[in-house]
Formats: sequence, C-alpha cells, structure tokens
Amino acid sequence: MKRIYIILLLVLLMVSVIFLWGKSYKESLREAYVPVENIHEVNTIPSEEGVFLREEYALEYEQQPIDPKHERDLEQYYHNRAFYGGPPTIPHPVDEMNMGSKACLKCHQNGGYVDQYKSYAPVTPHPDKINCRQCHVPQKVNSLFVPSSWHKNQSTKIHNQALVGSPPIIPHPIQLRENCMACHAGPTAPKEIRTTHPQRVNCRQCHVINDKEQKDIGSFNRKVIN
Ligand code: HEC
Ligand code: HEC
Ligand code: HEC
Ligand code: HEC
Repeated sequence: MKRIYIILLLVLLMVSVIFLWGKSYKESLREAYVPVENIHEVNTIPSEEGVFLREEYALEYEQQPIDPKHERDLEQYYHNRAFYGGPPTIPHPVDEMNMGSKACLKCHQNGGYVDQYKSYAPVTPHPDKINCRQCHVPQKVNSLFVPSSWHKNQSTKIHNQALVGSPPIIPHPIQLRENCMACHAGPTAPKEIRTTHPQRVNCRQCHVINDKEQKDIGSFNRKVIN
C-alpha cells in the first residue's frame, strides 16, 4: 500500500514538472515586441509609399553582419552608369532565352549572395518596372565607338548636415528612388551611404529632400572629335 502512495506521489510530481516546464517554455517564446497588425492597411501618403516597400526587412538589415570582402563603395557604384542617375549597365552575362520579369527578379527582388558572380545582387529600387531590359542593357564594349567630349555629370555631395549629428539632407531627387532601403541598407549599399538605422523605417520623417540647390548646366552640346 505504501508503495502505491509513493508511486502516485512520483507520478504527480512528474506531471507537475512537465506542466510547469511547458508553461514557462511557452512564456519564453512570447515576444516582448508586439507587432503592429495590418500595418499595410494604414494609409500612407501616396508620394511616400515607396519608403515603406522594404520595411518588413528593416530588422533583418539591422542584424545583418557586414561582409567587408564583398562591399562596394560609391566609386564602384557610379562606375557602370553612363551619367548620374542613369540606369546601370548589366555587368554579368544575360541569358537571352530567359525572358520575363522573374528572370531578373529572382536575384534582384531581394538580393543575396550569388556564388556564380562572387558578389551580392543589388536590390532593384523599382520591382514594379518589370521590363528590365527596356532600360538596362548589357555592356558590349569597354571603349567609345567614337571619342567624344562626353563627361559624366557630377554626383551630389553627401554629409550635408545643418549641425553635427543632425540628419543629412537627401541630396538626390527621389523619382525612381522612393524605395530608400534598396540602396541604403544591406550588403550592396555602398559603404559610405549604408544607413546605421534601417530599423527607423520612415526615412523621410527626418531626412528632407534638397530642393534648394539647382545647378544650371546651360545648353548641352555633344562635340564629336574626329
Ligand atoms: C543569378 C542571379 C542574377 C540574375 C538572374 C540576374 N542578375 Fe543582375 N546582378 C547579379 C549580381 C550578383 C550582380 C552584381 C554583380 C557585380 O557586382 O559584379 C548583378 C548586377 C546587376 C546590375 C548592376 C547594378 C549596379 O548597381 O551596378 C544590373 C543593372 C543588373 N544586374 C540587371 C539584371 C537584369 C536586367 C537581369 C535579367 C535579364 C539580371 N540582372 C539577372 C545577379 C543576377
Ligand atoms: C524605366 C526604366 C527602368 C526599368 C524598366 C528598370 N530599371 Fe532598374 N534602374 C533604372 C534607373 C534609371 C536606375 C538608376 C537609379 C538611380 O541611380 O537613381 C536603375 C537602377 C537599378 C539597379 C541599381 C540599384 C543599386 O542599388 O545599385 C538595379 C539592380 C536595377 N535597376 C534592376 C532592375 C531590374 C531587375 C529591373 C526589372 C525587374 C529594372 N531595373 C527595370 C531604370 C529602370
Ligand atoms: C538608386 C539608389 C538610391 C535610392 C533608391 C535612394 N538613394 Fe539616397 N543616396 C544614393 C546615393 C548613390 C547617394 C550618394 C550621393 C548621390 O550619389 O547622390 C545617396 C545619398 C543619400 C543621403 C546622404 C547621405 C549622407 O551621408 O550625406 C541621404 C540622407 C539619402 N540618400 C537618403 C535617401 C532616402 C531617404 C531615400 C528614399 C526616399 C533614398 N535616399 C533613396 C542612392 C539612393
Ligand atoms: C528619427 C530620425 C531618422 C530617421 C527616421 C532616419 N534617419 Fe537617417 N539619420 C538620422 C540622423 C540624426 C543622422 C546623422 C547621424 C550622425 O551624423 O551621427 C542620419 C544619418 C543617415 C545617413 C548617413 C550615414 C549614417 O548612417 O550616419 C544615411 C545614409 C541615412 N541616415 C539614411 C536613412 C534611411 C535610408 C532611413 C530610412 C530607413 C533613415 N535614414 C531614417 C536620422 C534619421
């Protein structure tokens, strides 16, 4: 009889241990952070919608380690653009038979390391413009067909801050650049302009566009030197 009591007691103890452990385990899984639900139903100002396109990756970007071996800088960034703001040429082979939007977006929608090219794929700031090769073309030659006086226009200056520590102004136009995190966060963001705070999401809350400085470039003549 005594034995049965002891066995019963042990079974009871075991059940309570399992119950308590299970409860505390479930507690530990509960996140302290309560995600805002239906965030996409919050009405954003249409002209600022693009800023939020990659917001779901903001925390991932923040936690991503930097990969210094495969970083790029602003010089590399400007290199394959014929002019400031121009569409970059495609620096890798293009499979002519591989048509359709997904052909390019499978790498360029969210980026990531591509073993084949030993590099990270830059995220496209405009995933909605699916006919990529309307604007992006592969580079066929490295020199000009005919030498000319063509020179690239200047890029805008960075570090334009009113005070030390205040948010620098957005020095560039934002047409086709509404999607800030595509270029300013993650492994392909040029290192000078990679933001330290992708998690703040609403970039234009603090960074304002520079619409004061307009440079008159005069009339443009393309002189062909023969
Ligand atoms: C297998 C993945 C992959 C596919 C598919 C792919 N790309 Fe890329 N792309 C890359 C990688 C990686 C780079 C970076 C290459 C480098 O840094 O040399 C790149 C670079 C580029 C760039 C230069 C971006 C810049 O900022 O300089 C353009 C433009 C581009 N790709 C367009 C395209 C287009 C258009 C297609 C579809 C025809 C395409 N890519 C398909 C992986 C891919
Ligand atoms: C209407 C023309 C147009 C179309 C269509 C277009 N792009 Fe672009 N793309 C541009 C321009 C212009 C830029 C340069 C943006 C800038 O510097 O302001 C650019 C920049 C890029 C970049 C560079 C981003 C970076 O961080 O360096 C990538 C990658 C890219 N495009 C990929 C694509 C892909 C992939 C497609 C198709 C799904 C596509 N683009 C369709 C015009 C276009
Ligand atoms: C196509 C890529 C691209 C997109 C998209 C983009 N930027 Fe930029 N941004 C750049 C480049 C490149 C520079 C460096 C200066 C230049 O070339 O104009 C820059 C510079 C800046 C700077 C100045 C940084 C400093 O240290 O002074 C700020 C701030 C900035 N961008 C904010 C934004 C915001 C906010 C958005 C979204 C509304 C945005 N950018 C979208 C490419 C981009
Ligand atoms: C709450 C205000 C605030 C928001 C929101 C914000 N920034 Fe900033 N940002 C700043 C301040 C302040 C600095 C200057 C930091 C310094 O000089 O130490 C800065 C600096 C920068 C720089 C220069 C490089 C650096 O990190 O110091 C870039 C690029 C930038 N921000 C991009 C962005 C982008 C992209 C977003 C949206 C994802 C964003 N910022 C959201 C306040 C903000």
